[in-house]
Amino acid sequence: MTDLPIHPLTAEHKMLRDTARDFAQKEIAPIAAEFDESGEFPHATIKKMGAMGFMGIEVPEDYGGAGMDSLAYVLALEEICKADAAHGVIMSVNNSLYCHGILKFGTEEQKKKFITPIASGESIGAYSLTEPQSGSDAGTMKSRATRDGDFYVLNGRKSWVTSGPVADYFVVFMMTDPVKKQKGVSAFLVDGKTKGIVRGKKEPKLGIRASATSEIIFEDCRIPAENRLGEEGDGFKIAMTVLDAGRIGIATQALGIAEAAYEAARQYAGQREAFGQPIGAFQGTGFKIADMKTRIEASRLLIYNAAIAKEKSKESGGRYSLEASMAKLFASETAMFVTHQSVQIHGGMGYSKELPVERYFRDAKITEIYEGTSEIQRLVISRMETNLR
Ligand code: CAA
Repeated sequence: MTDLPIHPLTAEHKMLRDTARDFAQKEIAPIAAEFDESGEFPHATIKKMGAMGFMGIEVPEDYGGAGMDSLAYVLALEEICKADAAHGVIMSVNNSLYCHGILKFGTEEQKKKFITPIASGESIGAYSLTEPQSGSDAGTMKSRATRDGDFYVLNGRKSWVTSGPVADYFVVFMMTDPVKKQKGVSAFLVDGKTKGIVRGKKEPKLGIRASATSEIIFEDCRIPAENRLGEEGDGFKIAMTVLDAGRIGIATQALGIAEAAYEAARQYAGQREAFGQPIGAFQGTGFKIADMKTRIEASRLLIYNAAIAKEKSKESGGRYSLEASMAKLFASETAMFVTHQSVQIHGGMGYSKELPVERYFRDAKITEIYEGTSEIQRLVISRMETNLR
């Protein structure tokens, strides 16, 4: 990998990246196919990732995290995703969709109670926004949180919750005042052991099969009012702010998948011979390699740029939605392009489960869908650029 001069990495960044690469190649890559096949949740390796500090990279050490910056986070995540995108999304959701929002909007007590076990990797965090009838149009959720003295009573159905079947804690978004639409949404921190939480069936998925995804159903689930994150009505903005961080994570996941698929294709093109020469010597293949490499490096620049913008926003409080959406849009479409080309370059072997290339192809697709589809990223980017709706 090139260290691009406009994004100089510190010695600490490089050390973390190398440690993550070493760990991912030794501990995750060898088991990725087996867990993809079985669809089992990789509890043991996730625990080890916690012990390495990967589950709360930007969380201050006081709350059990590694206390590093946003660039460090994407560098480590990229290496995990190169080995296995399913481990990658579990890490991304823990870091971005869960810890980031509580760090930004939580009280001191909430940070201690709800971040510490997750950042240390002892427990798993999840984010519940989507509902069966509201995905892209997230502001039209139907689930309700009703105040009852010192409690809120949560009712509703959340879908596509990454780590839903195994999560210990959830950030949940529900309507407290439906008349106000988006401004009537509030955010809550919920212990997964609370009575009234029902875990729906695990989704059978095309890719990232070792990451568990399910519905979470709330049936008269009573939580203390002190578990509300931010003020009543702040929930939609909290959800969107958190998704900006999440989108950098998914862009990084896409980058990792693309890099793995590219490396396999590059090597295969140099070894496989047809018509008396390595297939990479044919322009038809060589130009594919050129396009794959160029798009990967462009993705990397957009991602590092978004990570640096996110880091700056910790001081300024400013938004980095544009940078995050551009990174996710470009990197996820690059992952689809690169994995598609990699399968094609491998020919029949690309279609076989003997090699990981078909898994990269299946894993890539979700990056164009979750945490905002490519269409939603284009909407965010165009609205920010034109101020038109
Ligand atoms: N940061 C801060 N505030 C934001 C914001 C952001 N990124 N985006 C919007 N807002 C604010 C707006 O400024 C506006 O505030 P005001 O009313 O004060 O002006 C308010 O929120 C409403 O914004 P919009 O009018 O733009 O809202 P909208 O209804 O048009 O929706 C949207 C905008 C971009 C389409 C948004 O709904 C969206 O991002 N949808 C996609 C949802 C998504 O990504 N879902 C994935 C869920 S997670 C998942 O995939 C599962 C998993 O576990 C991984």
